[in-house]
Amino acid sequence: MQTKIEKIDSSSALAIKIIDDYSEEELDFLSFREKLALANISHPEKKREWSTARVAIKDALDSLSVPYPGFFKDEHGKSQSMNGTGYVSLSHTQGYAGAIFHREYPVGMDMDFVREKILKIGKRFLDPDELDFLENDPVHFTLAWSAKESIFKCQGKKGVSFRDNILLEPFEKGSTVIKGKIRGTDYADHHYQVQAQVLGDVILTYTIW
Ligand SMILES: CC(C)(COP(=O)(O)OP(=O)(O)OC[C@H]1O[C@@H](n2cnc3c(N)ncnc32)[C@H](O)[C@@H]1OP(=O)(O)O)[C@@H](O)C(=O)NCCC(=O)NCCS
Repeated sequence: MQTKIEKIDSSSALAIKIIDDYSEEELDFLSFREKLALANISHPEKKREWSTARVAIKDALDSLSVPYPGFFKDEHGKSQSMNGTGYVSLSHTQGYAGAIFHREYPVGMDMDFVREKILKIGKRFLDPDELDFLENDPVHFTLAWSAKESIFKCQGKKGVSFRDNILLEPFEKGSTVIKGKIRGTDYADHHYQVQAQVLGDVILTYTIW
């Protein structure tokens, strides 16, 4: 899999890519501000992650025939479109970078490698009710973690706690949809449906507002 592009519907698409080097010409679509941001990243691996995620956004946009508007990070770290059209979310994990774009609604996406050690940190990001329904299985825990990351990125504001403010409804390890809500913040009472896929050792989740 060099690039996986999934057109979700006529308004949204996601792309996942293997992290790679890009020449200056291949990154010519970036805005001036983004080129500056890239030039300021000194670590070569971080440069590759950052560039691949932006090429993933471009691929998702191309599949919808939307011109690349350029993106900047707001005060919370969330990427915002420079011309105010559409919403984006991106993620990178060892070897892979991905992005989702929607013309009308905020989106959140996340990719995570499944690791045994997630079982040890469950209490830090899970509510006791969630610990009750989750099997002691790294795939099940990673699905819960990633679903919370996607919800967090969709709402976009810092200060929302995974354990205290994002609550998931019970779901099975093989579920492809995970329901969750934000509670106890200004963004309470919003309900999310998170799409989940297991791609080998990587969990991919995304949600549309
Ligand atoms: C910031 C955070 C969303 C990054 O997620 P991550 O899994 O470390 O990394 P990912 O590669 O999946 O995502 C990184 C991207 O998230 C995006 N991002 C950062 N802050 C964001 C925010 N507030 N809203 C939406 N997206 C955000 C950025 O686009 C970033 O990519 P970039 O730096 O190339 O632009 C996450 O680490 C975080 O802070 N979570 C909330 C804190 C928390 O409660 N943690 C758990 C406590 S146990």
